[in-house]
Amino acid sequence: MIDSMSGADGAKAPAPNHVAIIMDGNGRWAQKRNRPRLVGHHAGAKRVREIVRACPDLDVKYLTIFAFSTENWKRTQTEVAGLMKLFKRYIRREAQNLLEEGVRVRFIGDRVRLEPALVDLMDGLELLTADNDKVHLTIALNYGGRDEVARAARRLAYDVAMGKLEPKSICDETFPKYLDTHVLPDPDLVIRTSGEARISNFLLWQSAYSEYEFIDTLWPDFTPDIFAQVVGRFGVRDRRFGAVPV
Ligand code: IPE
Ligand code: IPE
Ligand code: MG
Repeated sequence: MIDSMSGADGAKAPAPNHVAIIMDGNGRWAQKRNRPRLVGHHAGAKRVREIVRACPDLDVKYLTIFAFSTENWKRTQTEVAGLMKLFKRYIRREAQNLLEEGVRVRFIGDRVRLEPALVDLMDGLELLTADNDKVHLTIALNYGGRDEVARAARRLAYDVAMGKLEPKSICDETFPKYLDTHVLPDPDLVIRTSGEARISNFLLWQSAYSEYEFIDTLWPDFTPDIFAQVVGRFGVRDRRFGAVPV
């Protein structure tokens, strides 16, 4: 355990229960090496494995990672196809390890635009790991915060039209039940790698009170040690949620 995880009295600082990560910088990592962008995405996938494995020791129970946004379809066909292939490969290769390591996997995002073979693998991995409880890994794939809120509003409107829901019962506690993340707690800490200080449509509703860390490191260079340091810093944050401490 690294030092930053301990307070001045030696007591362990509280860990974030839910960490969400915008894994950015794969393309620049590859460009710096004069390699195709996909090489960076493959290097990034290796990091995912390590970061997931680091969670139990850091007391991080929920990890959510942004793998592909609703805006990433704007990239070249080669990059998009390569990423979809990588996601399929990742699921096939990692399924057994994730099962054995106690990781429960969920996917958020709109599956309608994804190819059926990938959706089948996603469904299979969710089912395979459904009884796990050590770490809850959520992969955001074809995910956009605005799209998620719009889809939630659509489902909610259907429920109202069907007479299942009273408009007056819609409030900030009932609305998130319609979001893709309805079974998850809100993220305590959102990390973005690569130096960009923006959220790029990630977890818009859920991160209302999250702490943010923008890290200069490119995602393929984001080691478990750096992860432990960032998680350790969370313990000294003063979270007030709008109240004045008494
Ligand atoms: C993040 O890395 C991964 C995805 C968006 C799929 P990028 O591909 O955005 O890398 P940069 O930002 O171009 O360096
Ligand atoms: C956000 O990164 C999406 C993912 C990490 C999957 P982007 O690289 O797509 O975001 P922008 O374009 O810099 O805002
Ligand atoms: Mg990027």
